[in-house]
Amino acid sequence: MAMSRRAAAALAPMIATVLLAAPAGATPGAPGAPGVGDDYFPAAGNGGYDVRHYGLDLRYEPTSRALRGVAVISARATRALSTFNLDLRGFTVRAVTVDGRPAGFARDGQELRISPHGGLRRGEPFTVTVRYDGTTGRPTDVSGALYGWVSTPDGAFVANEPDGAPTWYPVNDHPTDKASYDFTITVPEGKTAVANGELVAKRTARGWTTWVWHAPDPMASYLSTAAVGDYDLRWSKGPRALPIIDAVDRDLGVDATAGLARTAEMITYFSDLFGPYPFSSYGAIVDDDTEAGYALETQTRPIYSGPPRESTVAHELAHQWFGNSVSPARWQEIWLNEGFATYAEWLWTEHTGGQTAAARFAALYARPASTGFWNPPPGDPGAIDLFAGSVYTKGAMTLHALREKIGDRTFFALLRAWHTAHRGGTADTGEFVRLAERLSGRDLGAFFDTWLYTPGKPTSW
Ligand code: ARG
Ligand code: ZN
Repeated sequence: MAMSRRAAAALAPMIATVLLAAPAGATPGAPGAPGVGDDYFPAAGNGGYDVRHYGLDLRYEPTSRALRGVAVISARATRALSTFNLDLRGFTVRAVTVDGRPAGFARDGQELRISPHGGLRRGEPFTVTVRYDGTTGRPTDVSGALYGWVSTPDGAFVANEPDGAPTWYPVNDHPTDKASYDFTITVPEGKTAVANGELVAKRTARGWTTWVWHAPDPMASYLSTAAVGDYDLRWSKGPRALPIIDAVDRDLGVDATAGLARTAEMITYFSDLFGPYPFSSYGAIVDDDTEAGYALETQTRPIYSGPPRESTVAHELAHQWFGNSVSPARWQEIWLNEGFATYAEWLWTEHTGGQTAAARFAALYARPASTGFWNPPPGDPGAIDLFAGSVYTKGAMTLHALREKIGDRTFFALLRAWHTAHRGGTADTGEFVRLAERLSGRDLGAFFDTWLYTPGKPTSW
């Protein structure tokens, strides 16, 4: 929901020039930027508007992999716009309307450029509707990992991080523009469609079942999901009657959910440490895809390509605070997600009688300086190495080293204050460093420089 104020300020003089120069009768405003200005993913997101809500109506047929969608996107122009972009890859766009009026559109790579009739005034709310269809596949990200809408033999495994949402719907694809979502997903009768949030309706007619899910909390697009498969839905309750909805592939054995058994206990533990659980429901999607081999913290409903380990479940739960509620302001800040979730995993392991975080840190710190283990620096890993081991492990070690430096009291107060200050929004490392310095009363510039931005093994800090 928030947009970069800095970018808007930088563009203001340019907009004024364009307005003055516009000949009589021309559409006022200027074209919206094709990206938000994220150095790692320059095409990700778009400039000039702020999405409030996505209403996604999808129909998917797993055998033919045919996906037909109607996306109804409610937004507000943050400046006068002659055109604006959405991100969408593949598909045939059949029609675009803005506030019910047919709008012009053109495509260029992942940019869908839309020309609303008469343009949009600064501050104007508008609704853009995009009708599209096509055949889905098994897309991969810059590092070669499967992501986005991944067609599987029995449905689809959907996990967008970092920029895979445009593989299934038109979107302002950047964490700085969070929105609420409604999903209406129609699949062949017998299949289950599961998305973020809560199930609000299910109806079957003429061999097709429509599943309606409502996700009211602000969500970054990389955390949206709409998995389709042979899932059984299981309802239970977490602390404070939090609804927990798990979707488990019917073809998996009974032990497939062993790793989920302590979910409610984990929510209580992390709520005590980090502050109240930030969303309206929780649960897991456990798929039987043998190839994808990963987990993603999709908001309220992490997805696991196969039966998860308990430590992975703890990791994805911790992301609900760190990553999902407090999201990275740009992709370079990924350690704020992965370092924190990995450290939370260590805390859970210690809490449940396993290795202590201190012992884990010590064992890892014993690794020789010559190994690749210490690189790339987690504070600036580069787009291709966004999910390098060091982002997770050296990121978590950074937090443990910080804890030793500022003491347990200040450290745990910092984790809570970090979530409180930025919940529902985005943040960057500079803000984390300043908060840590304020709470500890210490200058931590050199410390974070060493751990986050300097290649190799930290030897003094
Ligand atoms: N955020 C996910 C996790 O740590 C990892 C996503 C990995 N994505 C990828 N394209 N390799 O749980
Ligand atoms: Zn993670």
